Amino acid sequence: MKLLVIGSGGREHALAWRLAQSNRVQTVYVAPGNGGTANAERVQNLDITDIPALVEFATREKIGFTVVGPEAPLAAGVVDAFRLAGLKIFGPTQAAAQLESSKDYAKAFMVRHNIPTAAYQTFTDAQAAKDYIRQQGAPIVVKADGLAAGKGVIVATTLEEALQAIDDILDDGMFGQAGARVVVEECLVGEEASFIVMCDGKNVLPMATSQDHKRLKDHDLGPNTGGMGAYSPAPIVSPTLHNRIMREVIQPTMNGMAKEGLPYSGFLYAGVMIGDGPDATRPIKVLEYNCRMGDPETQPIMMRVKSDLVDVFEAALAGRLDQATIEWDRRTAIGVVLAAHGYPENPRTGDTITQLAQDTTECITFHAGTNILDGNLQTTGGRVLCVTAMSDSIRRAQEAAYRAIAQTHFDGKQFRTDIGWRAIPNAES
Ligand code: AMP
Ligand code: GLY
Repeated sequence: MKLLVIGSGGREHALAWRLAQSNRVQTVYVAPGNGGTANAERVQNLDITDIPALVEFATREKIGFTVVGPEAPLAAGVVDAFRLAGLKIFGPTQAAAQLESSKDYAKAFMVRHNIPTAAYQTFTDAQAAKDYIRQQGAPIVVKADGLAAGKGVIVATTLEEALQAIDDILDDGMFGQAGARVVVEECLVGEEASFIVMCDGKNVLPMATSQDHKRLKDHDLGPNTGGMGAYSPAPIVSPTLHNRIMREVIQPTMNGMAKEGLPYSGFLYAGVMIGDGPDATRPIKVLEYNCRMGDPETQPIMMRVKSDLVDVFEAALAGRLDQATIEWDRRTAIGVVLAAHGYPENPRTGDTITQLAQDTTECITFHAGTNILDGNLQTTGGRVLCVTAMSDSIRRAQEAAYRAIAQTHFDGKQFRTDIGWRAIPNAES
């Protein structure tokens, strides 16, 4: 059968790569894909991004099913359009995708359904927002309501920073319509984990656990990014915490969406902040929902999938996720992002990738911001590559990833040298 993956990042490369390994698959089309998917076996790029053209392509080519990678097409209603045309697609409807596309919607939803999250208020008026910030004090978090390509969250350590964020977003329109409203919320402390599940409207199948590194620099310093590296499993998510996140976050989210007439299907990603204490009682609070898999979390997660993913997606599309399982490789996978010069503020494009490590079964370079131009592999975006390695310990996986990175080159490459650090004391204790 033929499949379609929508998107162009490392997440989509990893999904397409894993799907293409199913012996039931003839071709995985990636729209629009990148320089890595252009060269992958049984994977083909498709130069379209507009929804009507994708519907037309999927109909004409009798695509078995479509998987949506990023949030923008979900928020634009790609799932609604495919379903209307009688096509199978895995993802939430536009209305259900508001869990990600509007932070105010997500916060109000969590309050309605008693899902633990940071205390907050939403504002359209800058003066009212500033009064609230002064009253609460710093640190405090300011978030643009809408989608802002991962840049809409300001974790302000000082009052001035928070007030400046209000000026930028509400008065100066830094994020346009996405910043017409802002959510101001309590700053949470603890350790973050990415809890990603597949949903079919009723049933939930958890993916392997993972953790991302949001800050640009080693030791979690520097600006927030889309994610500089990730690993799976996340040792912090013990079986007790896993059960609690399912019970306290995922199930109430599914039930709440169904009750409100928006049964949720697709990937659901709860970013959770885990506070201190014994696992049975330590606080778990939702930082955000994403209506998709994480990038770069997907890369190590896909590396660990041992089952035929096509069967799993088919079960999801048939509402039979309760009967599906995914077998995970017990080893640890780690993905290290190589970003372009100037990322995240002002990434430079057009650098030639002069050297890539040889892919093996245990180490693969997934591409994100790359393209082939006149036969040359070039950088086209902020996060360029994600070198992903798997081994029997986090340390060995880390060593393998960094060995491959030493064989990878483009001008201006930036990467963290400490991906996985949080997992090391935990995994070895
Ligand atoms: P979001 O897009 O809402 O996940 O925010 C991006 C990142 O900002 C998160 O992954 C956290 O690292 C940080 N963040 C968001 N909300 C909070 C909060 N209430 N307290 C502390 N950090 C936060
Ligand atoms: N890596 C975080 C995200 O995909 O939102």
